[in-house]
Amino acid sequence: GAKSRSSSIDVPRNHAVSPGRRGRARGTNGDAIEPPMELAARAHVGSMEQYRSMYNRSIKEPEMFWSEIAGELRWETAFDGVDKPEEVLEWNFDPSKGEVYVKWFAGGRTNMSFNCLDLQIERGLGDSPALIFEANDAVNSRIFTFNELREEVSTFSKFLVAQGIGKGDRVIMYLPMIPMMPIAMLACARIGAVHSIVFAGYSAKSLAQRVVDCQAKMIITASASRRGKKIIPLKKIVDEALEICMQNDGFSPDRVVVKGNADTRIDDTPFLNIDDVPFNPQRDLWWDDDISQYRMDEKPDPMEFIDSLDPAFILYTSGSTGKPKGVVHALGGYLVYAYATSKFVFDLHPGEDIVFCTADLGWITGHSYTLYGPLLNGCATVLFEGTPTYPNAEIWWNIVDKHRVTIFYTSPTALRTLQGFGDAPVHKSSRATLRILGTVGEPIAKETWLWYHEIIGDKKLPIVDTWWQTETGGHIITPLPGATPLKPSSATFPFFGVEPVLLDPVDGHEIDGEGEGSLCIKRPWPGIFMDVHGAHERYENSYFKVFEGGYYASGDGARRDADGYLYVTGRLDDVMNVSGHRIGTAEVESALVQHPLCIEAAVVSIGHEIKGETIVAFVILDPLRKKEATQYPEQELVFKVRAEIGPFAAPERVIVVKNLPKTRSGKIMRRILKKIAAGNIEDLGDVSALADPGSIEHCIQAEQRAR
Ligand code: WTA
Repeated sequence: GAKSRSSSIDVPRNHAVSPGRRGRARGTNGDAIEPPMELAARAHVGSMEQYRSMYNRSIKEPEMFWSEIAGELRWETAFDGVDKPEEVLEWNFDPSKGEVYVKWFAGGRTNMSFNCLDLQIERGLGDSPALIFEANDAVNSRIFTFNELREEVSTFSKFLVAQGIGKGDRVIMYLPMIPMMPIAMLACARIGAVHSIVFAGYSAKSLAQRVVDCQAKMIITASASRRGKKIIPLKKIVDEALEICMQNDGFSPDRVVVKGNADTRIDDTPFLNIDDVPFNPQRDLWWDDDISQYRMDEKPDPMEFIDSLDPAFILYTSGSTGKPKGVVHALGGYLVYAYATSKFVFDLHPGEDIVFCTADLGWITGHSYTLYGPLLNGCATVLFEGTPTYPNAEIWWNIVDKHRVTIFYTSPTALRTLQGFGDAPVHKSSRATLRILGTVGEPIAKETWLWYHEIIGDKKLPIVDTWWQTETGGHIITPLPGATPLKPSSATFPFFGVEPVLLDPVDGHEIDGEGEGSLCIKRPWPGIFMDVHGAHERYENSYFKVFEGGYYASGDGARRDADGYLYVTGRLDDVMNVSGHRIGTAEVESALVQHPLCIEAAVVSIGHEIKGETIVAFVILDPLRKKEATQYPEQELVFKVRAEIGPFAAPERVIVVKNLPKTRSGKIMRRILKKIAAGNIEDLGDVSALADPGSIEHCIQAEQRAR
């Protein structure tokens, strides 16, 4: 049975404004921006009163609340708890009481792909657009209706089955943002195979690490990817990765499926001729040659309903230790949460809304809100292969106008980039169909928030600043666009079923009212991940043992203002956030010390105008090997990180030092290095724990010399 706990529900209780009465609030709430009346009138949640009453119910009766929402989707076998609601959720967050686990909707059987496609078709949306593909070059664009998408997915499912892929098998995708990617994801989901997408900006080594960790049976890739004027030879990188897998672990996936892509000349964009793509006929298959037989195939569709507690997918993300974590999401809970958050946070209406989430499918935002969330709600989703600035900085807004996009969701780092091009490119579009703007990935500064609101949103559109993580599956702290009065830079209040708390980082007590602390969550919501692949102890240690008493620790810090609004301030642990990408300091350090020249490295991040944060590395070189060094060891080390992890993790500066500031117990004081790297040397804070105070002066001088 489920455990119940008494708890204080304090979130929006001190919210003092009622919609429509601006500027008359207590506290500082007078500046809050009210939801547009028109939007509120039709929204699923149209007032703070409604939000509060739904929220309170979601906390008091989570089983009933979530059963009802789950009931809006299709279950082949109903989950337990029809007579006994307490069976809908079973959980333990407290390692001192036994193993940590969360089970939502146990006993139920369902299917992600069925709910995304067949259910929508049953409901009459077969001829509505489901997937709107915009190519990098605008020539190969294409729209798939729900019927057409199901046809493609079903064909690909038959192909997977014929290749020996079945329930529980892991399939890695290393693909650009082309229709093949969502089709392959939905096909895996259809037969119960577990997809693991590796963002196509990761290096061969990072890819190899993930292939081995999840023991992938198949890899799906493309000959190349095209982004703006760049071409990336993906198949070649996959071959390199598989060679590394073979050498280091003697492991090889059975099959590599290759989709021809970026192989024709379009205007002056570069291309990669298919004949120049490495191909191993024993192991590799050209998707374009092989597909037709499955299209005509009369065999039944291999769709299979699977257990709610079976894994839906694995997605790797960075933590504070070196090795990336394979975050495993359970089917039932993830499905319900992706559906519910999309429905309420983006206020989706089936057959009407068109979602443009700019996130790559290789990140969790792409999983939940470029693909699954919109389809589960019967809405079309835009898949854009290119970058925000090619052929020019108008491209996103042109896409919005061309496809009548209603919901637009992006990251602060992209907004800062576009802000740099000024307002003129925005003003060339009407953006008249937009209803809601969203942001995710990092804290959004007030200036960027206001630019988004005033310039992109013409001062009319609400912005949902959604705070969440790979591990949470979907939005955790977020405004609801028809209900929540907004304050710039605040993610505002918790989503249904989420009970956030701020804990004192030192003694772990809960901070009530105004204050700042470590952002933790007290009870499970359906989207919470079920495990770290192959490392259950990391699941417990990294998230549930940080504080005593049974809390999910997010690793982020947050502040609560007098009106109860939450402001997420950023990571408290050794995880950096560069252009919205999560990168562990330990990952970069371990890449650096793998270079023979480098014997020790300490990596920090500092603020950056466009990227949010940027990486600075302090390194100690091996004095015995100095002679072997080229003229630019710093540059060599940057290349090493690009090769080990990927270009996005490359340090902006490498500073060579002779020693590092450490405590007497040998721990590197990154806090001090961060200040030195940022040039903030007036106040270095408490340095009494330092073993060698001279190291500070040395590092300061090295930093200044390196400028
Ligand atoms: C950060 C992305 C401030 C945060 C969905 C979190 C944010 C990490 C926000 C997760 C936001 C995400 N405001 N910070 N609205 N959204 N973050 O796993 O530090 O790629 O812990 O998931 O991004 O990154 P991840």
